[in-house]
Amino acid sequence: MAPPHPRDPSTAANYEQVTVSHYALKWKVDFEKKHIAGDVSITLDVKQDTERIVLDTRDLSVQSVALNLNGEPKKAGFTLEDNQALGQKLVITTESLKSGDRPVLEIKYESSNNAAALQFLTAEQTTDRAPYLFSQCQAINARSIVPCMDTPSVKSTYEAEVCVPIGLTCLMSAIGQGSTPSECGKRTIFSFKQPVSIPSYLLAIVVGHLERKEISERCAVWAEPSQAEASFYEFAETEKILKVAEDVAGPYVWGRYDLVVLPATFPFGGMENPCLTFITPTLLAGDRSLVNVIAHEISHSWTGNLVTNFSWEHFWLNEGFTVFLERKIHGKMYGELERQFESESGYEEALVRTVNDVFGPDHEYTKLVQNLGNADPDDAFSSVPYEKGSALLFTIEQALGDNSRFEQFLRDYIQKYAYKTVSTEEWKEYLYDSFTDKKVILDNIDWNLWLHKAGLPPKPKYDSTPMQACKDLAAKWTTEGSEAPTDGEVFAKMSNSQKLAVLDAVRVNKTMFGDRMPALTATYKLDQAKNAELKFSWLMLGLETKWSPIVDASLAFALAVGRMKYCKPIYRSLFGWSATRDRAISQFKANIPNMHPITVKAIQSLLK
Ligand code: BES
Ligand code: ZN
Repeated sequence: MAPPHPRDPSTAANYEQVTVSHYALKWKVDFEKKHIAGDVSITLDVKQDTERIVLDTRDLSVQSVALNLNGEPKKAGFTLEDNQALGQKLVITTESLKSGDRPVLEIKYESSNNAAALQFLTAEQTTDRAPYLFSQCQAINARSIVPCMDTPSVKSTYEAEVCVPIGLTCLMSAIGQGSTPSECGKRTIFSFKQPVSIPSYLLAIVVGHLERKEISERCAVWAEPSQAEASFYEFAETEKILKVAEDVAGPYVWGRYDLVVLPATFPFGGMENPCLTFITPTLLAGDRSLVNVIAHEISHSWTGNLVTNFSWEHFWLNEGFTVFLERKIHGKMYGELERQFESESGYEEALVRTVNDVFGPDHEYTKLVQNLGNADPDDAFSSVPYEKGSALLFTIEQALGDNSRFEQFLRDYIQKYAYKTVSTEEWKEYLYDSFTDKKVILDNIDWNLWLHKAGLPPKPKYDSTPMQACKDLAAKWTTEGSEAPTDGEVFAKMSNSQKLAVLDAVRVNKTMFGDRMPALTATYKLDQAKNAELKFSWLMLGLETKWSPIVDASLAFALAVGRMKYCKPIYRSLFGWSATRDRAISQFKANIPNMHPITVKAIQSLLK
């Protein structure tokens, strides 16, 4: 038996005594006050006799708390107590509750106008000039919009009635139940139901001027009207990817799979909110070259949303598995060699760089299983759980030597832990139970090194043919004495991910690169790149080689794009270069009112 879990350190909830089975939300979205006025009924499930219910909050003002048991009111008092980086605890003291009781808590509250999960945009701040609101609850921001047990180890269903100004559309991470005009005629009330139990971090809302385009019977894309057509084109393959994902992972249980393309301030590439993935507009490359993000978010429908990491210390069980599945899907669609290439790129471009350059190889956050303590899990966020995690799965699959059996194991694992949460130890135990005939092979894996040691893990063996072609081309730019290419044809014909690998290989060997930045830019037309990944790589190469013509373009990109994967390294680089530091700081400070609170916090931490 796997050892019992240690507690989830990122929550104050006393989930050992009481859990939440259902949230019923009544929200009024107020664009003037930039907050949500809320009423929530929380159905509890008492596991052990108790006189306390502890919930997580962050900057909420709580007006009243009432408790009902079997329709009878019960005494309940409450206090809000500081919980440092984790917000405030809402401690509710009650008459004694008995194991098996199913009381209902009624809480009236308001979110702060600076709620960590929310960004309110004024009409002037959006592409189509209408007020806009969107949330981002992962990892521990749900507590800033509703008092809750904000831990992935508790799963609950939810329903919601959301009142928004007339003319705007509201969507949630749930199945829409239609809308009705409010009594005053100035607002619309949208209803939702999420019948599948989900962890709190998957609660999500978006409100705006949104247009819907149907992709298939169960898939649609939502966007501001001026981006609807481009979004529809970019993500037209969604249903196809979803079908391949079902072949790999099992039946899709969430009913709908819709996408919503958010404003450019959205801090992430994508967020796997159930029934409604949130997407950055930086994916609108015009050529479908960035839809791997869709394959990634679709994969979370199994790894993450169905089988959920027990706590953020086991985040790799969400992201490492999802990256692995995303590449399995690509392997089925474009061939095994593509999967090998993407996996190798992930190791070299993301993992090596993060471990060696961003953190340093001894850093706590380069461990696969993390010790978070009181830290905000967002502080530990990096590509490590993604790429170290998927590299571990790749290594195990290869060692076992039978890909179709390993895929069957993944399906069985998903089925076993569906609707539940899982820790690293439980997963590992299930792996051993599934391969009793291969124990010797599994024992050969250095588990302690992979799971608990900082730094780079051993590089898996990949078929490096496509990667080698990229490195060879890059070498022409970085080898002293070699003639730099003057013909951009070879590069132009490459896939987007190969182009990125070429630039990455140049970046790695940039010491030899000298003053070839203008030639590289012109030959590969990098200053015209529409693809955000390519543009970002070019900007970083320019910044790292201190090529001054890159500065204006970098500042402009960091201003336009709130996706942290891009603006964080760009600002880090600009802050670290004496010639650009002051300009970058003043641009960042002036832009804070336009930025998402999560991004502001991340960039501010670079200045500390
Ligand atoms: N769930 C993550 C985003 C996330 C993680 C938000 C942790 C907040 C806290 C999402 O699935 C993700 O990984 N997005 C990536 C996509 C990429 C790996 C294909 C992103 O945003 O770039
Ligand atoms: Zn993910």
